Amino acid sequence: MLLTGSKCLFREAEWRLMSAQSPEQIVETLIYPYLNHAVRMLEAEYATAGDIDNGMRFGCGYPAGPLAVLDTIGAETVRAALAARHAETGDHLHEPAGLLVTLAASGGSFAAAAGDASAAPTLKRPISSVGVVGTGTMASGIVQVFAQAGYDVVYVGRSAEKLDGVIRYITKNLDRAIERGKATEDDKAGVLERLTGSTEREALGGVDIVIEAIAEDLDLKLQLFKDLDRIAKPGAILATTTSSLPITQLGQATSRPADVIGMHFFNPAPVMKLVEIVTTEETSPEVDETVRALTAQVGKVGVSCADRSGFIVNCLLFPYLNDAIKLAESGVDLVTIDTAIKEGAGLPMGPFELLDVVGNDVSLAIQEELLAEFEEPGFTPAATLVAKVRDGELGRKTKKGFHDYAQ
Ligand code: CAA
Repeated sequence: MLLTGSKCLFREAEWRLMSAQSPEQIVETLIYPYLNHAVRMLEAEYATAGDIDNGMRFGCGYPAGPLAVLDTIGAETVRAALAARHAETGDHLHEPAGLLVTLAASGGSFAAAAGDASAAPTLKRPISSVGVVGTGTMASGIVQVFAQAGYDVVYVGRSAEKLDGVIRYITKNLDRAIERGKATEDDKAGVLERLTGSTEREALGGVDIVIEAIAEDLDLKLQLFKDLDRIAKPGAILATTTSSLPITQLGQATSRPADVIGMHFFNPAPVMKLVEIVTTEETSPEVDETVRALTAQVGKVGVSCADRSGFIVNCLLFPYLNDAIKLAESGVDLVTIDTAIKEGAGLPMGPFELLDVVGNDVSLAIQEELLAEFEEPGFTPAATLVAKVRDGELGRKTKKGFHDYAQ
């Protein structure tokens, strides 16, 4: 498997996208540009090697991060294959990153840089109660994470029906855990007891940290942050789980931008262990450290990055998903691609299965943000992704996306 080890899967690739049909070719076509992109992120010093690798391991369930994978395959193998492809496509995304070329020439590895663990963070501000705004999948998962870790959670939604949806989501997950012998009825009762739902934002006045997980709409979030500024007690941390909007701007909507930070959870939040901790130039070091400590306390792995489109994981993940759609557009069957990625690269889900989980509307929005930020022509959203969104085929939530979930 590519991401766990052996080089033998790789033979001299035929990089022509149009002819990439075999599982090996599919894996190489989609995975090598992703590895190159991870090297560019390291080169730009956007994140550490350890955080880049942890991001993909704990955010997407990959068996190894991209830089560790590169060490396994060998920098020269990947460099040579990318160079051959770049000669054909001329796409900057296929041009081997400078650091990759250097390591290939020197025979060096990324491993040394990846072991850069820093000292364990501590809570600089006391946190005993948590507020969550939103009642969708992400918000429900975040409520579950904190309640399961023993925190009292106040969650705010627009209607009693939406608040009930959060309870239904958590109950279903806990019932499944009980069925599998991973939780007891007492655990479930304990979690549910810690929850307080409200349709009024004012209910957040006493909590130590608020995490917002409402719709990805800047105007809605700006209004929410203005309200939180008015409602939250002094010293409360105001966090957002936005995946695509500027956190700096949300901070500036308040009178306390030093208390504003990103906590980007992954879907499904109770399962994926990653939280990207995104600081703006104004976020105070005390808030950053408290959020890193809190993340560890609820059993998650935090990685740190600055306020830039896509952060670490989406920036690496979505161009790969977009490439998978373009590969399918060239005539390769979806199931063949999904299977090649799961069996050949060892990833937990094929790209089309994952796109359907994330939602094509969300994926398109993220891809458009990445294109706007990085101006890479190769990031242009695939035509089929645009068409799926236009036709309302958004994925599992509409029972049809790339795959069909009607029955
Ligand atoms: N909610 C809560 N728990 C869930 C769940 C859900 N929706 N789905 C699965 N689980 C739990 C199961 O109960 C099970 O728990 P136990 O091991 O304790 O019994 C565990 O997860 C594994 O589930 P399954 O055995 O049923 O299924 P699986 O082995 O296929 O794993 C998966 C499911 C963990 C989701 C796995 O497929 C995976 O890691 N997928 C990758 C998901 C991914 O890449 N997410 C990132 C998307 S991008 C994003 O979120 C960012 C953004 O901004 C859009």
